[in-house]
Formats: sequence, C-alpha cells, structure tokens
Amino acid sequence: MRIPESKIAEVAAAADIVRVVSEYVDLKKAGRDYKGICPFHGDKDPSLYVSPHKQIFYCFGCATGGSVFNFVMKIENVSFTEAVRILATRFGVPFEFDARDSVNREGREKLFKVLEIGHSYFKNKLAENPHAEAYLADRGIPSEWIDRLGLGFAPDSWEGLVGRLTVMGADLRDAAAVGLVRARDSGGYYDYFRSRIVIPIPELNGKVVAFGGRIVGQGDPKYLNSPESPVFSKKRLLYGLDSAREAIRKEGQAILVEGYFDQISLRIGGLENTVAPLGTSLGREQVRLVKRFTDRVVTVFDGDEAGVRAAKRAIPIFLAEAMEPRCLILRDDKDPDECIRRIGADGLRRLLDSATPIIDFFLDSLEEDHDLRTIQGRNSALEECFPLLGEIADSAERDYLIERISSRVKVREERVRLALKSARRSRPSGEDSQKSANKTHFDFPSAERNVVKGMLLRDGFVDRVIERGVVKDLEDPVLRDLAHRMVRLRDEADKFDARSFCNSLEDETLAAVVAGWLQPRREQDDLRSDVDADLVLEDSLESIRLRNVHKRKAEILERMRKCLPGADEFVKLAQELQEIGRRLHK
Ligand code: UTP
Ligand code: MN
Repeated sequence: MRIPESKIAEVAAAADIVRVVSEYVDLKKAGRDYKGICPFHGDKDPSLYVSPHKQIFYCFGCATGGSVFNFVMKIENVSFTEAVRILATRFGVPFEFDARDSVNREGREKLFKVLEIGHSYFKNKLAENPHAEAYLADRGIPSEWIDRLGLGFAPDSWEGLVGRLTVMGADLRDAAAVGLVRARDSGGYYDYFRSRIVIPIPELNGKVVAFGGRIVGQGDPKYLNSPESPVFSKKRLLYGLDSAREAIRKEGQAILVEGYFDQISLRIGGLENTVAPLGTSLGREQVRLVKRFTDRVVTVFDGDEAGVRAAKRAIPIFLAEAMEPRCLILRDDKDPDECIRRIGADGLRRLLDSATPIIDFFLDSLEEDHDLRTIQGRNSALEECFPLLGEIADSAERDYLIERISSRVKVREERVRLALKSARRSRPSGEDSQKSANKTHFDFPSAERNVVKGMLLRDGFVDRVIERGVVKDLEDPVLRDLAHRMVRLRDEADKFDARSFCNSLEDETLAAVVAGWLQPRREQDDLRSDVDADLVLEDSLESIRLRNVHKRKAEILERMRKCLPGADEFVKLAQELQEIGRRLHK
C-alpha cells in the first residue's frame, strides 16, 4: 500500500522522534542530541543517538538507524504502512487509509485481480510492438518461451494501463497499491512502467505479485521494479523459484545468479534449477527460502571487482544460515547469460561442476588481498575472518574454520582464538552472535561511497551527479539503489531534501546506512563540514568516470580482437577508441 509522500511528510512533521523513542528508552541530553541504551542489541553503555534536528536515530553499537518510522517498524515489528498509521493516530494526523490498511483476504484478492489485468495488458502490448518482440528474439528468447515466461511490454504511454484498468472497472487505488500506476499530485493516475519489457514475478504458488521492467536497449535506469506492496516483498522472494523448485528437488542443487535474464537464459538452456534475487543483493531470508528446498547451492558471480565483492558479501549471509555454497566466478564472460550463449548449457554445467566451496574462495582471497609474509598482513587477514567466524553458530563448524584459517594464514590456532576473543571484547558491549548477524557490515568502495554520501549531505550535489551521468556507473548495488532513489525524489520535488529522503526509506538496511551518514561519529566524516569536501567529491566523480572509460576501453579492445580489421564494426570501434584516448588525456 503506497501512502502519498505528502501524507508521510505530514506525519513525520507531527511525530517528534525524541518523544517517540523516549516512550521506549530512557533518553539523556548529550550536546545537541539525546542518547540512551539501544533497545535493539544487548547494549550496556548508551550507544543509541537520537537527533531532534535531523529527526533520525542511529546506534553506533549495532548500526541500526533511520527515521521515526523505521524506529517504530523495528520496535513494534510492524510494516512501514502500519508504522505511519500508528504514528498518525498517536499524533492526531487524519489518516484515511485506515479501513483499507488491514490487508484481509478480500483486499488481497482485489490486488491480485489488478495485477492480472496489468499482466494481460502487457502481454497483449508485446504482440503489438514488433521492436520489443525483436529485442527479445535478439536476446535469444524463442516465442514459445515468451508465452511460458509470460513476458510482456509496457508501451510508451502515460495512461495506457490506466485506461485499460478503468475500462475493466478496476479500482485505481488498488493498482497504485501494487505499484502498477502512481498517483499524480494534481489528481488522477499515470502508468508506472513505460517503454519497457515487462517480466512478471510470480510468488511460490505461481501467482504474479510484481513486475520487473527492462528498458529496451540502452537507458537508465536499466530496470524498474514494482515497489514493495501488501502482496510483494522482494526480500522474501527469488525470481524463478516457482518454476525451479521441482528441478531443485530433483537435481538436489540450486543455481543462484544475479539477474532476471541470467535466470531466463539458464532456464531456457535446460538448467531449470536456477533462481535470482530481485534487484537487490542476496539477503538472509532468500537464503532461508532456498534452504527449504536444498542445502546445495552454487552461486555464480561476474568476474569483475563488483562480482568478487558480491561473492564476499554473500559469505556471512550463507554461514549465518549454516549453508556453505560453492561459488563460480565467471572470468571470461560478463554474466551467466552471456556465458551460456557462448559455451552452451553443457559447457556451463562443466564450469558449475568446477565451482569452489565458498570458504576456499574466501581463503584464497585472503592470500590475494593480504601480504601474509608480514605481521601486519597476517593481522589484517585475521581481522577479515572475525565477522565470518561470528556468524557460525555451531562450535564444531567454527573450530573447523579456525583450523583452516590458521593453516592458511600461518598463525597458530590459539592465536586465532585469542584474537577472536579480544575482537569480541572490544566490540561495543555484549553483542551476541544473533545480534551481530543483524549488523550491517558495509564495505563500500570509497569513491562510490563519497559520491552517494555527497548526494545526501551536500547542497546541490544531487544535481551535479545527475548532470555528470554517474549514477548508472555505480557498481555497488546498495549505493546504486540509494542514488537512484535520490534521483527519483529529486525528479518529483523541486529540491532534494535529505530529511524527506530518509523518511521515505522503508528498507531497514538503506535507512540504517543513511542514518549512519547523517549521524557521523566524527566531525570529519561529515561532508558538510569538511572544507575539502568539494575536492574529495570531485576526485571521486573523476575516478568513477576514469574507471568506466577504462572499462569501456577494455571492452572495445576485446571486441576488436574478435572482428576482422577493416570490417565496419572494427572501424567504428577504432574510432571510439581514439575518442576515448582523447578523453583520457583531457
Ligand atoms: P545486471 O545489470 O547484471 O543486469 O543487474 P542483467 O540482469 O544482466 O540485465 P541485462 O542482461 O543487461 O538485461 C542484475 C540485476 O540487478 C537488478 C535486476 O534485478 C537485474 O536483473 N537491477 C539492475 C535493478 O533492479 N535495477 C537496475 O537498474 C539494474
Ligand atoms: Mn545480463
């Protein structure tokens, strides 16, 4: 259920965060802020900060944070909508969504109905738009698979679906609740998906609950996904699991890929036991979901830096669920889609057979990332192991990993244990492993972090980033997600405002990252007060630009190697290369 931004702002303005938090926590004044014992982890010294002028909370102990809504969501264990409703009632803000808000079965049926109307509209439109069909054919999707997957197309129209829904007698508020249409501030509704291939997303029983929309050809954003709704939670679904579950049971193994089209290509190629997360990096609930069907998972990641980072980020998530998947890092292809097209299903099967246990991948990466011949190198390698060890609940399993780490890093086991103990002790008081599992350990690449943080904190920087076209080049999925959302908010309002941005974040992780930035531990982490911030930001933008120019250059060289000198394509590539050379030396 989407609540209008203006309503959220109204409730946020009325619901003072200090008053709300102090109903649960004893708060003491500390400078401009308040602090107290964090209710979300075993806190002993006050680590929870509440800022009245920023209207956020942030805990330095467990890295939880966000707006007043995020606080109520977490402490009352309710949805975003419910949190807004609770606060509206409590602070006397009229809230007309009340009756529609309790999502009973009847309500859900109505939502499924509009999703169905939407889906059949998209399917019909695909047949009427040859260029969209051609795009899918070009991506190697045979027409019988277009039917089987239920692929569709949203034409370049602001009110096509709105019209269709009206004719069908649907309630447009239901359509807005599932994100098919959006309300205009001036009244009325408009289509959310436009000029996009539409991929229906079924839940486990096959019912379509959301859509992913891919732009035809190049463009930004590449994908637009249905927002969270009463029938759709992207963290709790995996794309393709409805059709893959049989195959997963039969093969006794699941293949996990990153993108919709990776899943589609592998499925068409006969690897039907493939699933993908939906527009976010893999989360714990998704791991739990696969685990219901199998303990054996192979995850496939791209060979670039982002892929390796994604692989590393997945490790603690799997370990926390006592899963030890194998992982395959693609070195020669952009993604599994490209890989299966190049070497075929059997080729990919062979690669999958050779996938490394994720722990081996991790131990190898220790050796690559740290100089284990030096004491500092060994220490920093150990540091990297602690968060992982902390996730393993089973002590025998933990002992086994300690043994392997000690032989790989070449320090005695007792030393690993000792270091682990003291690392635990120096953590902000009494966190048990369950709590630390909730902790958001983010290791963002610094240039990308600076840019996105700058967008949040620095006046006018959102516009500069839009102007430079950098958002699509961000590789970190969390940062890219945040940046996209800021750009969207900027489009909708005249001016970007960090406070309303924070209030709009329903996702716990995103809210915590933003609150952490708004509530820096040290003054110099605050880009607003840093005199050198402009230089830092400019450098960061430039380094992302350069990285992408180099990436493009490598791509071109690779493609030139594959075509004949003198061929049209070759000449075009050579020209582009020259152009790039000029840009690099600018
Ligand atoms: P990729 O950029 O790897 O896309 O993003 P892809 O699936 O290979 O797409 P093609 O082959 O270029 O069409 C992986 C996944 O990340 C999410 C989508 O779920 C996508 O499948 N994503 C990506 C978004 O949600 N939004 C974006 O703008 C980009
Ligand atoms: Mn792809």
